[in-house]
Amino acid sequence: MSSQPLVLGIETSCDETSVGIVRGRTLLANVISSSVEEHARFGGVVPEIASRAHLEAMPNVIAQALEAAQVSLRDLDAIGVTAGPGLIGALLVGTSAAHGLALALDKPLYGVNHLSSHIAVDALDESKPLTPAIGLLVSGGHSSIIEVQDMARGVRVLGGTIDDAAGEAFDKIARILELDFPGGPAIDRLARDGDPNSINFPRGLADSEYDFSFSGLKTAVSRYLQQTPQAHRADVAASFQEAIVDVLLTKALKACAETGLETLIIAGGVAANSRLRTEALARTQAAKIELRTPPIGLCTDNGAMVAALTSLAVSAGVAPSTVGFSTLSTVPLDQPVWL
Ligand code: KG4
Ligand code: ZN
Repeated sequence: MSSQPLVLGIETSCDETSVGIVRGRTLLANVISSSVEEHARFGGVVPEIASRAHLEAMPNVIAQALEAAQVSLRDLDAIGVTAGPGLIGALLVGTSAAHGLALALDKPLYGVNHLSSHIAVDALDESKPLTPAIGLLVSGGHSSIIEVQDMARGVRVLGGTIDDAAGEAFDKIARILELDFPGGPAIDRLARDGDPNSINFPRGLADSEYDFSFSGLKTAVSRYLQQTPQAHRADVAASFQEAIVDVLLTKALKACAETGLETLIIAGGVAANSRLRTEALARTQAAKIELRTPPIGLCTDNGAMVAALTSLAVSAGVAPSTVGFSTLSTVPLDQPVWL
C-alpha cells in the first residue's frame, strides 16, 4: 500500500453528514451538510431527525467530495468511517454507506474512533512533522487530556471530565442565557462585548491533576443569574467562558510540563472558541510550547478528520476493521481503530 494512501472518510456521528478525502496528509476535499437548523427549535439534536437527514444527504455529499478532489471511487486505497461514539442511528447511516462502498469496490474499510479523529485532523497540517504531543480534546461530549505518541495505534488518557463536557457546559449555559442552539458559537459571539473578569466564577477541580468538572460552574452561573436579574448578559457569558478556558489551559499546560512534551494540540468543536484560541496562543508562547489548533472549519465534526486518521492507520500498517463491525454509542478514547 502506498505511503500516500488516497482515503475517503465518512462522518455521521451527530448532525453533520460529511465526507473528506485525503492523500497521505494532504487534504483534497471536505464536504459538510449540516442538519443543525432542523434541530434548533428543539434546543438540541433530535436523533431521528439527524438519521433521516444523513440518509438524504449522503449520496450527494459523497459525489461532491469526489468532484472536489477530482478522484473517482476506483482510485481509493481505503475507506474510513466513524464507528463511534455518537448517536447510534446516525452512526449506522455512515457505517452502512461505508460498508456498501467497501464491499462494492473491494477496498479495505476502517471503522474509526470519532474522538481520536478530532485530534488526528492535526496531521493535515503538512508543514509540521508528526511529533509526540499533549492533546486537549474538547467537544460536545468530551473534555480530555491525552498523551499522543502514535495517533494511529493509540493514545494514553491522562484525564477527563467527571460530569459535563466543556461543549455541553457551553450549550447548557447558552440555554439559560436564552441564546440560539448550538450554544458554543452563540456564547463566543456574546462574550466579545463582555468583561471576562467581571464575575469570578469557580474553577472546578483546581486541585485534581487532569480531570475536569464543569457542573459546579454551571450551577454558579445559573444561581448568579437568578440572584442578579439585572446582570449584563455579555459579562456573564465572557466570565463563564473565561472560567472554562482558564481551567482547560491550566491543566493542558500542566500536562505538557509534567510529561516534558513541547507540543499542545487543541481539537474538537470547542477548539473553535475564539477566546480559547487567543489565550492558548499567549500561554503556550510564554511556556515555550508549540501550539497546534486545526483551522476553525476542521474543529467541529467533519469527514476530513476521519480520512486523516484512516490515512495514518493505513500508513502505519494497521489492519483494516473486520467487515460487519458494529457501531458503539460510547467508546474509550485510547482505541483509534476497530478491529
Ligand atoms: O466536536 P463537535 O463538533 O461535536 C462533538 O463531537 O460533540 O463539538 C460540538 C460542541 C458543541 O457543544 C458546540 O457548542 C461547541 O462544540 N462549539 C463551541 C464553539 N463552536 C462549537 N464552543 C465554544 N465556542 C465555539 N466557538
Ligand atoms: Zn465531534
